Amino acid sequence: MNFLLLLLAAYVLGSTPFAIVSSRLFGLADPRRYGSGNPGATNVLRSGNKAAALLTLVGDCAKGWLAVWGAAKLGFSPVEAALAGLAAFLGHVFSVFLRFRGGKGVATALGVLTGINAWVALSALLVWLAVAILTRYSSAAALSAAVITPISGAVLLGATPTVAVLALIAGILVWRHAPNIRKLMNGSESKIGASKS
Ligand code: G3P
Repeated sequence: MNFLLLLLAAYVLGSTPFAIVSSRLFGLADPRRYGSGNPGATNVLRSGNKAAALLTLVGDCAKGWLAVWGAAKLGFSPVEAALAGLAAFLGHVFSVFLRFRGGKGVATALGVLTGINAWVALSALLVWLAVAILTRYSSAAALSAAVITPISGAVLLGATPTVAVLALIAGILVWRHAPNIRKLMNGSESKIGASKS
């Protein structure tokens, strides 16, 4: 397969908005219309439907992993596979199915990390869990995990182009959390599991 075709396929795969797919499956309101308005697992959880939130999390994570894993299976190099993961992540954030709007990319980034290196993914997941348990803020957990990921990537993978891809994903993820950062600073950020308003 041609590399550009791979990037396009990964982008379209990443564009699949599982928050909206699972909300429709469970007969819930569109997550863009309540809570933070973000089509992501944290916001779907605000609907009160844990199964829909779990399906969102698993689906968004799986598409990131599949892009990297599929690229490697097709014989692309590790850095090309990482770029396929970046394309899937960009698909989630700027979805072709949502008029180039989308989510914040946390679950998809975790899937991409899992495809790239299980230990880097595990370090991000552990940081996410620790901060989430301590603060109950999903956004603070995601921001902390984003900061740690390029560092753990550099330690575990060395100075490779893949680490630059990880840093780019982390940077976009932080940028997408700008509204959350403002809310965290003024104390109006909602905690994990708070109901929608
Ligand atoms: O996964 C996204 C999370 O970090 C923040 O979500 O809905 O609180 O903006 P939300």
